[in-house]
Amino acid sequence: MADMMWAGRFSKQVDAGVNAFNSSIAFDGRMYRHDIHGSIAHATMLGDCGIITKEDSLIIIEGLKGILADIDSGTLELDPNAEDIHMFVEAELTKRLGDVGKRLHTSRSRNDQVAVDLRLYLRDEISELHSMIRKLIETLIKMAKEHTETIMPGYTHLQRAQPITFAHHLMAYVWMLMRDIDRLYDVNKRMNYCPLGSGALAGTTYKTNRQQTSDLLGFTAPMPNSLDGVSDRDYCIELCCALSLLMTHLSRFSEEIILWCSWEFKFVELDDAFATGSSIMPQKKNPDVTELIRGKTGRVNGDLVTLLTMMKGLPLAYNKDMQEDKEAIFDAVDNVKLCVKTFIPMLATMRVLKDNMRNAAARGFINATDCADYLVKKGMPFRDAYKITGTLVAQCIEKGVTLETLPISDYKSMTDLFSEDVYDAISLDTCVRERKSEGGPSPEEVTKQIALAEKRLAELC
Ligand code: ARG
Repeated sequence: MADMMWAGRFSKQVDAGVNAFNSSIAFDGRMYRHDIHGSIAHATMLGDCGIITKEDSLIIIEGLKGILADIDSGTLELDPNAEDIHMFVEAELTKRLGDVGKRLHTSRSRNDQVAVDLRLYLRDEISELHSMIRKLIETLIKMAKEHTETIMPGYTHLQRAQPITFAHHLMAYVWMLMRDIDRLYDVNKRMNYCPLGSGALAGTTYKTNRQQTSDLLGFTAPMPNSLDGVSDRDYCIELCCALSLLMTHLSRFSEEIILWCSWEFKFVELDDAFATGSSIMPQKKNPDVTELIRGKTGRVNGDLVTLLTMMKGLPLAYNKDMQEDKEAIFDAVDNVKLCVKTFIPMLATMRVLKDNMRNAAARGFINATDCADYLVKKGMPFRDAYKITGTLVAQCIEKGVTLETLPISDYKSMTDLFSEDVYDAISLDTCVRERKSEGGPSPEEVTKQIALAEKRLAELC
């Protein structure tokens, strides 16, 4: 009988179907680097604490480094029949070193091993995600700087509401993304504790040094409770939650771009390299990238639900259900990275059709609030001014004109407070320029928030 890792206890080979069902190497193989780094730290500690000889520790470390180099270079392929990456590396080590290799797993379980591997793996992913979101923010800021004077309608209920600028609109996403980076930091802060040394669940009788392995692997500290050490997957859930929220932001933005690309809006035009055609309709140019981002948001939300549901009924400590954590969190991370990576150049090459934005802002009475405010500034209570303006808007609609082209006599027939200067007060440029309350769309204010965003970004390093 070929030796399974636990051959001593069993009298039969595992059923081939069960073996395949049980195996996770197809998806946890990607953690080989982190698994080997974890094992090197463990072997170092075992040697330093005298649990194995210093000599054996060094041989094991060299052996592990050799395996790492061989997997990296492609000389060593992962065995698809291995149960998981942990078993594969250990078996390979024993194949190469004989009995010395069998000493590596002293005072360790795959339960604390997988927990440490996943934390190390996700720590790297979080750092990569962080740089990618940062790049996205920088792209948006660059675009915002070019569009502080680009007037567009701001919407509520998808109805034209008040005038804003394209820069103002872009900066709203910058702040959402800034919170996304912050959330990732936060996840990392709580995740960065070391479960190694928790053993299967109840620690170990060996005199280990958990502080040492924690330090060697760059963790903040060892996890204080061995049961929690092996059974905590909060970090996967928290990370997925942060990613769901990030995707929610990208999805809302994507939805807007999809609308803006339509003939009904035509506020932007995607570069040909970032759009696709139709197999039957020759005129079509479809915003597939943004639609896929919107679609993949559902998938990441699904991953979050998978993780939450997987954990909710698990008694302490480790249960095999937890093997399902990896596919869900890897899927979320992979897809978010893909989305951000594709979104950045698509945005950077998108043509902004300023005239169409401005023309849309010029229709829809989005200066009506400013007309009412004009009367308020001349002493009229806001509710009365609101009513008069509403009546004027109704008259405009009936006559097929705008507030800018409504004759002064019509204004004056409502109240003598109106004079010729009303036209300047309700011009689009004035409406935007005067909205200089903190956080407002005036070019002056948006320039200030761009500077603030750049400062925050520099602090978030
Ligand atoms: N492949 C397993 C996982 O991903 C590793 C831990 C296995 N532990 C065990 N006691 N079966 O969760």
